[in-house]
Amino acid sequence: MNNEGISKVFEFLNEAGTYYLATAEGDQPRVRPFGTVLFYDGKLYIQTGKIKPVSKQLAANPKAEICAFMKGAWIRVSGELVNDDDRAVKIAMLDKYPELKGMYSADDDNTQVLYFKNATAVFSAFGSKPETVTF
Ligand SMILES: Cc1cc2nc3c(=O)[nH]c(=O)nc-3n(C[C@H](O)[C@H](O)[C@H](O)COP(=O)(O)O)c2cc1C
Repeated sequence: MNNEGISKVFEFLNEAGTYYLATAEGDQPRVRPFGTVLFYDGKLYIQTGKIKPVSKQLAANPKAEICAFMKGAWIRVSGELVNDDDRAVKIAMLDKYPELKGMYSADDDNTQVLYFKNATAVFSAFGSKPETVTF
């Protein structure tokens, strides 16, 4: 496992605060702002609600891509987002984002955490060579 690469991806997304998550609905791309990101047990997790269209799209097709921009640099992460029903990860996610606790709990049937599998992240900036990490 390449922990250094995945940590860099986490740090970028965490500091950027907002990223954009693209999924596919049939042949139609769908994109929306997201902010949740957690580095847990060597994996990069995001959070959503199972009732949302984004969750249904990922259940039908786990391929996803996220993009974030910060201070003249941007990152694109592509891969598959895998559902994880481990209660401990949900708790860690909600502890990191306590403001979500009004809407979500680890034991509702809605809270969903997913981690990136077979992921490739490309760091880019104008004037520098793109840097690729996989995890
Ligand atoms: C800055 C920002 C961050 C957001 N972060 C998340 C997030 O981490 N998870 C989530 O499920 N929704 C998040 N949302 C809300 C989603 O963008 C919104 O629910 C969107 O409609 C979900 O996509 P969908 O309608 O295709 O399911 C965020 C919204 C904003 C404006």
